[in-house]
Amino acid sequence: MSRAAVVCGLGGALPATAVTNEELAAQLDTSDQWIRTRTGIGLRYVVAPGESTSDLAVAAGERALESARRKGGSHTDTTAGAGADVDLVVLATSTPDRPCPGTAPGVAHRLGLGTVPAFDVAAVCTGFVYALATAASMITAGVAERALVIGADTFSTILDPVDRTTRAIFGDGAGAVVLRAGESGEPGALLGFDLGSDGSGADLITVRAGGSRQRSTGEPPAEGDQFFAMEGRPVFTEAVINMSESSQRLLDRVGWTPGDLDKVVAHQANVRILHAVGEQLGLEDKQIVVNLDRVGNTVAASIPLALSDAAAEGDLVPGHRVVLTGFGGGLTWGSAALVWPDIEPVTQS
Ligand code: ACO
Repeated sequence: MSRAAVVCGLGGALPATAVTNEELAAQLDTSDQWIRTRTGIGLRYVVAPGESTSDLAVAAGERALESARRKGGSHTDTTAGAGADVDLVVLATSTPDRPCPGTAPGVAHRLGLGTVPAFDVAAVCTGFVYALATAASMITAGVAERALVIGADTFSTILDPVDRTTRAIFGDGAGAVVLRAGESGEPGALLGFDLGSDGSGADLITVRAGGSRQRSTGEPPAEGDQFFAMEGRPVFTEAVINMSESSQRLLDRVGWTPGDLDKVVAHQANVRILHAVGEQLGLEDKQIVVNLDRVGNTVAASIPLALSDAAAEGDLVPGHRVVLTGFGGGLTWGSAALVWPDIEPVTQS
C-alpha cells in the first residue's frame, strides 16, 4: 500500500435553461432526427445572460463538498483558511470568466475556502482528467491533503450562433470531485493515469482570436474568429483512436483487461464515438456510460457529470472497476483508473 488520492465526493450542476433539438431546429437548418442519429444528443443546457463558468463551478463545488461530508468525509482542519474543507482547488476550463486572472481563485473564495492554492488547467475536453492527475499528484507528493477538482465550461458563450454543427453538440455545465489523501488499496484510490498531447492538431479544435498571437498584430479579429471552430470529421477519428489507445495503455499499466472493466466513462462527445471506442476495446454496450442524450458535450464538465448521473442512477456502484477517458482540443487525451467508492453524488441543492 502506498499514499494515494482517493475520490470521496462528487457533485454536478447545470444551468436552468434547457434547449431541445426542436428549439434548435426552429433557429437553424437542422432537425431532431439529424442530431439524434448523428450525435445521440437530445438536450443541452445553456447559461442565462450574465451567468458564467464560475457560477456553475461554485454550484458543482458546493455539491461535491456536501457529498464528501455525507459519507463521513468531513474535515475540520481549518489551517488553510476559515471553514476550509480542502487545501487545493484545481479548475479545468477553456471558458474562464476572464482571460486573466484564472477563474479558480474566485471560485475558492466564493466557496469560503480561505487562502488555499487555486489555479486553472486548460486542456479543453480532456481538462477534467488533466486536473484530476494534477491534484492527485500533489496529494501523493504530500503538497496537499484534500483537493476540490472541478470541470466547468460554458461553451454556449463562444459558439457561432449560426453554426449548426457546434450548436447541436455543446452544452454548459460543471462537475466536481473531492479527493483526499488515503491508501492505494482503498476503493476510490486513483490507480494510474495516461496523459498525452499532439500540438500538430491544434487547429482542429480552436478559438482563433482573443489570444496573444492575434492581439499582437494590432488588427481586429477577422469576422467569426472569436467563435469556437472544430473540424468534425478528423476530430471524430482522433477521438476514437486516442481514447481507445490511452485506455488500453492505462489498462496495461494497472494490470486490468477490458473484460475486467465494469464501466468506461468517456468524454461525452458523440454516441457514435463512444460506441466506436467500446468496439476498439472489445467492450459491450452495458460497459459504456452514456448521458450525452440529456446534456450534450459539456467539455471539461462532461466526465464528472457522466459519473454523477451514472452513480445517481445505480449504473455505477461501489466496487466497479472504472476507466475515465477524455479527448479534446490541443489535441489532448487522458485516462484514469479507479475502483468506484461508496459515495453519494449531489446534483441538486
Ligand atoms: N444538422 C444538420 N446537418 C448538419 C449538422 C446539423 N446539426 N451538422 C453538420 N451537418 C451537415 C454538415 O454540414 C455536412 O453537410 P454537407 O455534406 O452538405 O457539407 C453533413 O452534415 C455531414 O457533416 P460531417 O461533419 O461529415 O458530419 P458528421 O457525421 O461527422 O457529424 C459531428 C458532425 C457531429 C461534428 C461529428 O463529426 C463529431 O461528433 N465530431 C467529433 C466531435 C468531438 O469529438 N469533439 C470532442 C472534442 S471537442 C473539444 O475538445 C471542445
